[in-house]
Amino acid sequence: MNKNIYRIFAALLLVALIGTPVLMAEGVDGKALYDKKCALCHGKDGVAKKMAEPSGNFNDAAWQEGASLDMILEVIAKGKGKMPKNEGKLSDEEMKAIADYVKTL
Ligand code: HEC
Repeated sequence: MNKNIYRIFAALLLVALIGTPVLMAEGVDGKALYDKKCALCHGKDGVAKKMAEPSGNFNDAAWQEGASLDMILEVIAKGKGKMPKNEGKLSDEEMKAIADYVKTL
C-alpha cells in the first residue's frame, strides 16, 4: 500500500519535472511575437514593406529555400542594416519561436 503511494508520488514528480519546461516552450507564441515585433516592417504575411527594404519576402518559396533557421535567428538577434537587433529585448526562446514562425510563412 505504502509503496503504491510512493510510486504515484514519484510519477507525479516526474511529470512535473519533465512536463513544465515543455509546456513553457509551447507557451511562447511565435506568431503573436512576429505580429508585434516584425510585421510593422516585414508585413503580417511576410511581404516586406518599404521599411524592410532590401529584405526578401518571407512567403516567397525561393526566399524560404535560401533562408536557414540559423540565418533568421542571427538577423533577429543581431539586426541587419536598418533592422534593429533584439538581443537583450527578447529571450532566446522568444527569438527561436519567431524564427520557427518565419519558416512557416
Ligand atoms: C524597423 C523595421 C524592421 C523590423 C521591426 C524588423 N525588421 Fe527584419 N529587416 C529590416 C530591414 C531594413 C532588413 C534588410 C537589412 C539589409 O539587408 O540591409 C531586414 C532583414 C531581415 C531579414 C533578412 C532578410 C533577407 O532577405 O536577407 C530577416 C530574416 C528579418 N529581417 C527578420 C525579422 C524578424 C523575424 C523581425 C521581428 C523580430 C524583424 N525582422 C523586424 C527591417 C526590420
